[in-house]
Amino acid sequence: MCGIIGINSNKPVTGVILNSLKKLEYRGYDSAGVATLVNGIINETKCEGRVENLENIIFKNKNDGSLGIGHVRWATHGQPSEVNAHPHSSEKVSVVHNGIIENSTLLKKHLIRAGHVFKSQTDTEVITHLITEYLKNNDLKTSILKMLKRLHGSFALGIIFKDFPDIIVGARRGSPLAVGYGPNENYLGSDSYALKSMTNKVSYLDDGEFCFIKKKEVQFFNSDGNKINKQVLEVSSDDQSYDKGNFKHFMAKEIHEQPNTIKSCLKEYIDKINNEINIINFPWNNKEIKNIKLIGCGTAYHSCLMAKYWIEQLTDLEVETDIASEFRYRKNKFKNSQLYVFVSQSGETADTYAALDLCKKNKMKTCSIVNVVESSIARDSDYVLPIHCGPEVGVASTKAFMGQLLVLYLLTLKLSFLHDKISKENYGLKISSLLELPKLIENTLKIERDIQEASKDFSKAKGSMFLGRGYSFPIALEGALKLKELAYVHAEGYPAGEMKHGPLALIENGMPVVVIAPRDKFYNKTISNMQEVISRGGKVLLISNKSTDEISSENLWKKIQVETISDELFPFLITIPLQLLAYYAANALGHDIDKPRNLAKSVTVE
Ligand code: M6R
Repeated sequence: MCGIIGINSNKPVTGVILNSLKKLEYRGYDSAGVATLVNGIINETKCEGRVENLENIIFKNKNDGSLGIGHVRWATHGQPSEVNAHPHSSEKVSVVHNGIIENSTLLKKHLIRAGHVFKSQTDTEVITHLITEYLKNNDLKTSILKMLKRLHGSFALGIIFKDFPDIIVGARRGSPLAVGYGPNENYLGSDSYALKSMTNKVSYLDDGEFCFIKKKEVQFFNSDGNKINKQVLEVSSDDQSYDKGNFKHFMAKEIHEQPNTIKSCLKEYIDKINNEINIINFPWNNKEIKNIKLIGCGTAYHSCLMAKYWIEQLTDLEVETDIASEFRYRKNKFKNSQLYVFVSQSGETADTYAALDLCKKNKMKTCSIVNVVESSIARDSDYVLPIHCGPEVGVASTKAFMGQLLVLYLLTLKLSFLHDKISKENYGLKISSLLELPKLIENTLKIERDIQEASKDFSKAKGSMFLGRGYSFPIALEGALKLKELAYVHAEGYPAGEMKHGPLALIENGMPVVVIAPRDKFYNKTISNMQEVISRGGKVLLISNKSTDEISSENLWKKIQVETISDELFPFLITIPLQLLAYYAANALGHDIDKPRNLAKSVTVE
């Protein structure tokens, strides 16, 4: 869960590496470092904290060269500190690494016995010492091959050498790695996003492969060391998304972008002339599908859970959801009638990718719902449904969650129609209602002021609860996750009907509780649950929709009413106040909203 950049050029590279590292901070931001070759010597600069700190240090002691590597880290082995920051260098080599070396303790013991002295607590440093050792008696390619054979675990590596001043080595097993091509210079990046400001021409290393990046050419090798050719792909450029515009944070911008991102996504998928959903050309026979398994992590898992309710309601398909980190280690029953759907904004989440890989190995039908179409998960699935919401920069997922919900709902509707579970007329009506969504989301955003007011109490709370039933339950989970990750306030999402079975004991005087109660079939039941919370001192913020019959506000702390919409689509609207609630609670606390503590945007280690 770190970011790698490498540049081999004939111009100074440090400034460009630092700029790319800033873009890569979504992958980790607890320490950073750069190593360049200056007059044949490896020159390493590292620091704890952000790339900004690194920039200040480098500015004072310029260490420029025309070949170098850089890294942003999210600590796995050893605390975030200068000594544990990457690169890890010896006199001869310097290494940056994403992933985890599982046998590092054993390798370290052997290397210490052979006389190597370790400086850091990281697993990565064994790689530096292993190559240094092999280079004593082998050529470069043999040393790399021997080193790779010794490593267990997952990794993406970038390596530079004192004695091979025109080569950056890249190697991949498990963690993604991209190579970029420029005029008289070539690049290495943990993903194509890192390379976007420099080139849109990239190749991706597959598992087991490594490469030699020279200024004018790149040589690729398979795990036996044989030369191979790689396809060069063109990736899209979307640089305007990396500008906050008039907003204080990317998260605020991304929340407010949602009417437009939903509109763009609808444009991609809805054929307005024929009132049809353009999810076509499935690489399987739809009639064969009897069960669906939805898999994701964090927010993406919550969209899977939401889709479970829709699929159950609108189709006869059996549906299950799974958290990727659990699924990948369970004894799963794979059946030919199953479709596996993987949901991931980044398309790089290690556990989700491993779950996909497991399904592929068991010859299952796979479909991914991603934002980054060049990602590993998208590239390796049979069928890809992009969410078309543009790059999401804030670590907390907002517009991507909304995009995932939309694509999952469209897929559900399409399957319902293809399986003859919905009439043509009803199908058309549901598609038409979807077209109203952007406007309704825009109107819902007008509650911002009220939410900002309510958020103050949440920011001061020791703990809080988010309750809902039916379609509102997965959104309650998502609301609680947002508050946890941004305001660092303990928050539990619960089915409202489950409160009496234990969690009600947590309610104490003044505890803020969000109750989501649209005017659906659960309304009266949820309101009764709400009264139980109020009678025990809970301070309830009720989120419902506008209606002619007034909600009795007796003892209610606050009430927010969003636009009226069908029950099925209500989740799209209630998501907005919950995103804003977490945003403003975190803002009141002065937190780093786009980069919450201990987290990273793309979780590329398990
Ligand atoms: O990129 P992915 O959608 O696979 O990421 C999954 C989770 O790490 C992610 O949704 C995480 O929970 C968010 N930070 C929540 O806002």
